[in-house]
Amino acid sequence: GKGSTADYVEVDELEKMPLSEQKKWEKDQMSSAVFSFGAKDAVKKDEYELLLEDQIEFIQALQLPGSKEEKKEPKLTEYQKKRLDIEETKKSLPVYPFRDDLIQAVRDHQVLIIEGETGSGKTTQIPQYLHEAGFTEGDKKIGCTQPRRVAAMSVAARVAQEMNVKLGNEVGYAIRFEDCTSERTIIKYMTDGTLHREFLSEPDLQSYSVMIIDEAHERTLHTDILFGLVKDIARFRSDLKLLISSATLDAQKFSEFFDDAPIFRIPGRRFPVDIYYTKAPEADYVDACVISVLQIHATQPLGDILVFLTGQDEIETCQELLTDRIRRLGSKVKELMILPVYANLPSDMQAKIFEPTPPGARKVILATNIAETSVTIDNIIYVIDPGFAKQNHFNSRTGMESLMVVPISKASANQRAGRAGRVAAGKCFRLYTAWSYKHELEDNTIPEIQRINLGNAVLMLKALGINDLVHFDFLDPPPHETLVLALEQLYALGALNHHGELTKLGRRMAEFPVDPMMAKMLLASEKYNCSEEVVTIAAMLSVNGAIFYRPKDKIVHADTARKNFNHIGGDHLSLLNVYNQWRDSDFSTQWCYENFIQYRSLRRARDVREQLIGLMQRVEIEIVSNPAETDNIKKAITSGYFYHIARLSKGGNYKTVKHNQSVTIHPNSALFEELPRWLLYHELVFTSKEFMRQVIEIESKWLLEVAPHYYKQKELEDSTNKKMPKTIGRSSRTD
Ligand code: CDP
Ligand code: MG
Repeated sequence: GKGSTADYVEVDELEKMPLSEQKKWEKDQMSSAVFSFGAKDAVKKDEYELLLEDQIEFIQALQLPGSKEEKKEPKLTEYQKKRLDIEETKKSLPVYPFRDDLIQAVRDHQVLIIEGETGSGKTTQIPQYLHEAGFTEGDKKIGCTQPRRVAAMSVAARVAQEMNVKLGNEVGYAIRFEDCTSERTIIKYMTDGTLHREFLSEPDLQSYSVMIIDEAHERTLHTDILFGLVKDIARFRSDLKLLISSATLDAQKFSEFFDDAPIFRIPGRRFPVDIYYTKAPEADYVDACVISVLQIHATQPLGDILVFLTGQDEIETCQELLTDRIRRLGSKVKELMILPVYANLPSDMQAKIFEPTPPGARKVILATNIAETSVTIDNIIYVIDPGFAKQNHFNSRTGMESLMVVPISKASANQRAGRAGRVAAGKCFRLYTAWSYKHELEDNTIPEIQRINLGNAVLMLKALGINDLVHFDFLDPPPHETLVLALEQLYALGALNHHGELTKLGRRMAEFPVDPMMAKMLLASEKYNCSEEVVTIAAMLSVNGAIFYRPKDKIVHADTARKNFNHIGGDHLSLLNVYNQWRDSDFSTQWCYENFIQYRSLRRARDVREQLIGLMQRVEIEIVSNPAETDNIKKAITSGYFYHIARLSKGGNYKTVKHNQSVTIHPNSALFEELPRWLLYHELVFTSKEFMRQVIEIESKWLLEVAPHYYKQKELEDSTNKKMPKTIGRSSRTD
């Protein structure tokens, strides 16, 4: 590919070769060093095939239990075969031999730290073992938290299948805006954020006998706060068992935090993984991923490929490129199934990644770092790691939080490589240099609590009656200034009074499982008589998957379709347009298709919207519609997001009002060419610069109306008038 410096045979060249030559080339490639990544030679051919046979045997052993005595046995039905299969798989997991010891350890200790490699069966098996051992007797549940929603859903589905029950009955899951549990649920998977919220309605977790804080090493904000909360509860609920489960070496640290709780180690089963680096840095890692996948597919023995990308957009780009290249190669290559995995992936598509690869075919999974430890996919032999992940970063000096793509840590890189060695010896292709691994990557990822905005967490803790946050039992405390800033923000939003206590408004805000700014916006819609519109906007903003569909071969059509929804007032109102027109089409799929809209995203927005309406009713806000009152709608939005204001400065650039930081309107915005004087943005995304995503035009005087504590007349005076000729203003641009 252009721009990519990986120096191996171009697949384009391969495409041009006659078939016979291609075969020969492939053969040559197999017997010599296959990749010229780095200095290290590839594994010798025989060695590799040997391991692969092992793997095939291993897989056959799982799939055909007792095949030797098949003649004597009565013929099994499909159903019986499937059940046997599941039993065999369960028994093959590394945790299985430790089943009884583990149960005993849980009986003997109130808090237990569990350490075991990804894929050992911690998440799927331990809750089942404890259920079988009687821990769900007397109407008690076993809870298990996951940092990621996809993991919570897919693991629950798997366990329901293993236990042969319907998902949502005995085994269920709960994630934000979705509760798939019932009265009968005894094993409940949930996101850490969901458990956090459960504390509001059940502060002592009385309905649980066991709580497993799983994937503790991920150190998400919610998990970190849960550590403090469950530790506190364990003191007065001596019957509650706590399990802290982690994939990596943080166990000692967890043990110390939980008053030297014992560590239960599940020995891993790991095959060697050869690591290859590129000789030079890659200019375009998505492109480099595509080439590497094709290269592996053309030259390497069967075995699935896992590619780590940073988000849905990148995954979709990669998927399109790959699909196109594979189609052009046609029957010259074996079947390649391309499957994406990311946080907002619809559940029917999630299931696909766990289905076994058909014989003779190869699967390539394009995943975010969700596949690093949260989700285990069997049969991965090759890992491609560009070395990046998306992270939220909060700068307490500027008060700006922004999502950006950052290099991963060494710990992450090693986890990623480890995914290749679960079922056989594997290979990991790092699309960065050995030098940069050694010198540029940090050892460990910084825990979220030390790098993101704490507004949400502080509001929750205050709602739980925890007033003294400075002395809260944190595993790693957040920076003092971040904590202070969160308190200030909640004060400005009206959620806290000047003693730092929760106000009535704050209590209502805490009912909503959303950012405090969004909660405030929802509550303010009551005053501005536009709750219906604001709820829709909130739902559309919460989808965070792409709303607009932009296929490479129809970019012009897609962009035209998108422009039809543009609202002169800004993107929030454009989103409202999209939703309302979809609703008027009776939620039609066809309508979405014709308008280049992602049907799945809208369906999700509709679900979220319903949940939000339920919550609005709970805080006794009537749903009132006033679609024509766009100023009112914008004022309600401003009531929540008055922190996110930027003002036009020289040369069509924007500066944030409070900290004078440069920000730019995202090219996708309806206001990209408009340049209004005052803008409110929903979020910042940092790529080449700080982009404001989803913006509306506001009037500066609204800020004094909605946030009198925060803004003073003086700082809102339109200094731009003096500096700039009037013609640069918006009026000259719109006509
Ligand atoms: O939690 P841990 O990483 O130790 O392992 P796990 O998630 O319990 O996975 C154990 C096994 O269950 C693996 O072989 C997974 O591939 C399988 N699994 C599955 O087939 N489907 C899922 N949705 C989740 C796990
Ligand atoms: Mg797990």
